Amino acid sequence: MSAALVSFAAFVRAAEDDIGGVVTSADGPEEGVWVIAETTGLPTKFVKSVVTGDGGRYLIPDLPEAAYDVWVRGYGLVDSAPVQAAPGDTVDLAATVAATPREAAAVYPANYWYSLIRPPAQDEFPGTGPDGNGIDANLQHQDQWLDVQKQGCMLCHQLGNRIVREIDNIEQFDSSLAAWDHRVRMGQRGGQMTNVMNRFGRARALRMFAD
Ligand code: HEC
Repeated sequence: MSAALVSFAAFVRAAEDDIGGVVTSADGPEEGVWVIAETTGLPTKFVKSVVTGDGGRYLIPDLPEAAYDVWVRGYGLVDSAPVQAAPGDTVDLAATVAATPREAAAVYPANYWYSLIRPPAQDEFPGTGPDGNGIDANLQHQDQWLDVQKQGCMLCHQLGNRIVREIDNIEQFDSSLAAWDHRVRMGQRGGQMTNVMNRFGRARALRMFAD
């Protein structure tokens, strides 16, 4: 990092209703990581997050008066210990680089995991049903499959979060396919989940989720 950038970074100065500063780790300034300010000192829990820019600089603007915990989360980092701050404070934050990729991945957001899902390829459409390619015959294009993911499953809840992507009781099943077949039938909304699974073509959808 150039000397010019160091002195530029040092000029982050929070106005009276902002918290700002610079985020640095052992790797140097941390650009493109989240800085989160949160408080339970207001009538409802209040959280505001921003992303660091050049030189690891951040500014969380327009904060109502309260005592905040400010901390850092980012790809490749472990969550930093919260630092106490109030609007008007300039707070430079220390981020910790994760020791292993596994440790880093533990805080990746749900959308990261969701982006890894592999729907059937475009050339697998149109569906030819349970005796054909397993995709429901109503689904003529991949877009319609994606629509069922979004307006079927994700009408109710996200899909990339930990409870959905990990199976805590996998040892109770013969296979991950069997586990998935069970978990989309269970609970108070099991009937509706299973209906959505059938709209994909159940067997093919189980393969996608289990994968
Ligand atoms: C009508 C709303 C609704 C729809 C639609 C829905 N879900 Fe759910 N889902 C829920 C609810 C509510 C729970 C929590 C169930 C419980 O614990 O009683 C849940 C829980 C789950 C779980 C966690 C089970 C566990 O191990 O705790 C998985 C996995 C899941 N849903 C996947 C899906 C998939 C895949 C789809 C689309 C095919 C889907 N859901 C569609 C409401 C829905």
